[in-house]
Amino acid sequence: FGKEIRYWRQVASTQPLAHEWAREGAAEGSLVITEEQTQGRGRLGRIWHSPPYSGIWMSLVLRPAIPLTQAPQLTLMASVAVTRALRRVTGLDIRIKWPNDLLIDGKKICGILTELRGEQDQVQYVVLGMGINVNVTPDFWPEELKGKGTSLAIAGGRTYRRVELITAILKELEGIYEGFLTHGFEPIRILWEEYAAMLGTTIRAHTPHGEVTGEAIGLDPTGALILRQGDTKIPIFSSDIDV
Ligand code: BTN
Repeated sequence: FGKEIRYWRQVASTQPLAHEWAREGAAEGSLVITEEQTQGRGRLGRIWHSPPYSGIWMSLVLRPAIPLTQAPQLTLMASVAVTRALRRVTGLDIRIKWPNDLLIDGKKICGILTELRGEQDQVQYVVLGMGINVNVTPDFWPEELKGKGTSLAIAGGRTYRRVELITAILKELEGIYEGFLTHGFEPIRILWEEYAAMLGTTIRAHTPHGEVTGEAIGLDPTGALILRQGDTKIPIFSSDIDV
């Protein structure tokens, strides 16, 4: 991954640039990366604050030959890979909040945005957007985000070299992705559970079918989060979760 890189000093968002490149035939592993985003995109239409020179703002093109139904597993795969890479380099206790927020002490340090194009029932390409707060300082976030976000530097009490983190992430992603294509989702499911932030706790999920409350007990073989309510187990496919 990262054999071909398009690097920008500043862009609105790396996501549309990666889509454009993918449509033009970008090879698997092509990477769009920037120092600063003026209109960084988060999940669910949110804004992603991407200040200059202090984070990793990048989008990776993947071309897995998998059905669309398996696509959510790619997001889980990415959260596992980024967690492992960041843990290895920083030694910090990074945990995953379902489906793919990375947290330290309950505060977000990384968000992953998976966007894809499918044809028939197959994935044509995936754009995996990753935003990592590396050396972002507390004063950067607007008031309402102050309690929710953190950075590796704030948590670790030192700054980190972004290039070292990027290298570690791309290497880890490539290895885990190859494992996923040959061995399937199960090894990733096990790792994900190991790093999960909220297994065993009661959570409330907002789903398209309404609100569901239950104890988070793990991931099912497809990647859905399993909530237990008494003797009933409810799979949650995609939602916003409150702990
Ligand atoms: C989230 O809401 O948690 C996902 C945030 C994803 C942010 C990254 S930064 C690089 C890429 N470009 C974007 O505009 N968004 C993603």
